[in-house]
Amino acid sequence: MTFLFNSDAARGRIFQDAFAREIPDLPFSMDPATVDPEQVRYLMTWTVPENLARYRNLEVLFSTGAGIDQFRAASVPDEVKIVRMVEEGIVRMMQEYAVLGVLSLHRNLPAYLAQQQAEVWKVLPQAQAAERRIGVLGLGNLGQAVLERLKPFGFPLSGWSRSAREIEGVRCFSGEDGLKAMVAATDVLICLLPLTDETRGFLDAELFASLPAGAGLVHVGRGPQLDQDALLAALDSGHMSGAVIDVTDPEPLPPGHPFWRHPRILLTPHIASITQPHTAARAVIDNINRLRAGLDPVGLVDRQRGY
Ligand code: NDP
Ligand code: OXD
Repeated sequence: MTFLFNSDAARGRIFQDAFAREIPDLPFSMDPATVDPEQVRYLMTWTVPENLARYRNLEVLFSTGAGIDQFRAASVPDEVKIVRMVEEGIVRMMQEYAVLGVLSLHRNLPAYLAQQQAEVWKVLPQAQAAERRIGVLGLGNLGQAVLERLKPFGFPLSGWSRSAREIEGVRCFSGEDGLKAMVAATDVLICLLPLTDETRGFLDAELFASLPAGAGLVHVGRGPQLDQDALLAALDSGHMSGAVIDVTDPEPLPPGHPFWRHPRILLTPHIASITQPHTAARAVIDNINRLRAGLDPVGLVDRQRGY
């Protein structure tokens, strides 16, 4: 029985040390060439290798990241468990990025950067935090953590999810009607939805039109959730004031894409959150111990729901 780690060697060495310390009875390998494929029970990877079928005894496919949409195009046998990454390093970084995105839009950073380029010294009107309503799409591990981190600023907070939730200090919405109600009362919308058939193209012209005038977007979910033309139209018409975009379709964006130079878009190259090897190794080891005890791993994907 072997754990095969298919990612960069620097991170792999940190995992290797942690495995040797904590579960020395489980062989750990970073080299598929030297491993007997029949021995591989656990595979950790970002994308599914083309020769997945050779791991005939594979039990668990661990994603190196929080998202697992990249596995969907591949045919992962039904009996293989898919586990997304739930670890505190990803959470911490996403909280930082969400605060960065919200404060950038709240404090008019895109407009001030444009003014700086044009050598303009001009004070713009400034709303108070209590007047800036934040709405989070997706109330999972990351959506909830982001809301928690935003609480001390005093923004009115809302969130929307598939199933109904209750979170202290947050107005929670679910379902179609809930979405409409939340979006109509949101000044900064944060997308933290997983990419599924239902969320592909979710951030579209209709949704943007439902936002109050002057609203902004922080998009940290997945690129294909965003209708880029619809966002550009909403920004260029002045209906939306700005967007902080971390994920695009494709990644990287091609040269000359309008997002690169748009004065109301702050663009980052999918770095909102990055799996941290020490805490991720801890999380994976805990999950292996859970599996050995007959429990479901944390982050087990519901293949039917798609996340
Ligand atoms: P979770 O699975 O913990 O949470 C997903 C949330 O989305 C849940 O609240 C779920 O609702 C909700 N949801 C899913 N589908 C729908 C739908 N159709 N309608 C309404 N709500 C829906 O995921 P995480 O919080 O861990 O991660 C979210 C996503 O963030 C990842 O899938 C990934 O795409 C992205 N991400 C981006 C990173 C970056 O660097 N930009 C880094 C890490 C993650 P319910 O509660 O009812 O199940
Ligand atoms: C992830 C990501 O899913 O980096 O972890 O986007």
